[in-house]
Amino acid sequence: MIPKRTFHDRVIAPSLLAADFSRIGEEVGRAVRAGADWLHLDVMDGHFVDNISFGPDIVQAVRLTTDLFLDVHLMLSRPDHYLQRFIDAGSDLITVHVEADHDVANTLRAIRQSGLQAGLALNPATPLSTVEPFLDQIDLLLCMTVVAGLGGQSFMPEVLEKIAAAAQIRRTRNLSFHIEVDGGIGAVTAARCAVAGANVMVAGSATFRMPDMAAAITAMRMA
Ligand code: DX5
Ligand code: ZN
Repeated sequence: MIPKRTFHDRVIAPSLLAADFSRIGEEVGRAVRAGADWLHLDVMDGHFVDNISFGPDIVQAVRLTTDLFLDVHLMLSRPDHYLQRFIDAGSDLITVHVEADHDVANTLRAIRQSGLQAGLALNPATPLSTVEPFLDQIDLLLCMTVVAGLGGQSFMPEVLEKIAAAAQIRRTRNLSFHIEVDGGIGAVTAARCAVAGANVMVAGSATFRMPDMAAAITAMRMA
């Protein structure tokens, strides 16, 4: 009998940022065939972070090619202003940053009222206390393991402590949000994050840029 997957089974979410943008559709297919659980889409506005990646049209294009769970990470100064466009594009979960310029509780509420799951992200330097008031309003907490803005950076081990503290609060407050990590994640760092309490592993370089994505995803799941 195949054991039933539970809420906190490890989820592997390849980040499209590391894919070949000239053939997005095929790249999504490659991730699906390699065993991706979710697809992570990094939206950058050139203001909240320096980089500009892609917007709702690309999210919609991806949606049209796959039924896979779309985990949309908004690195935008005004996520509230752009929210509806990403909802309409077919996102399944939208994550906004606590450091951005918006009423965080309102934005999270708007995401959930649209029937989507809501995520809240914090950068490595941002203390956990900033997200604590919102933990009962989220489906996912994204603990950035690099400073948001760029793929291919090195994992910051100092974030492990914050992940463990978030998992502890989740236990004591009897909550059930996912804990996601993003940045410098591969098999070794995924294992360290899982021990600390994370269960959603976002990886760009360690998936799309590997010669064998299926093997890379399996390694991240098992490590
Ligand atoms: C960084 C992005 C990440 C990035 C991860 O701001 O949020 O999702 O794509 O890339 P790697 O896995 O290459 O560190
Ligand atoms: Zn991301």
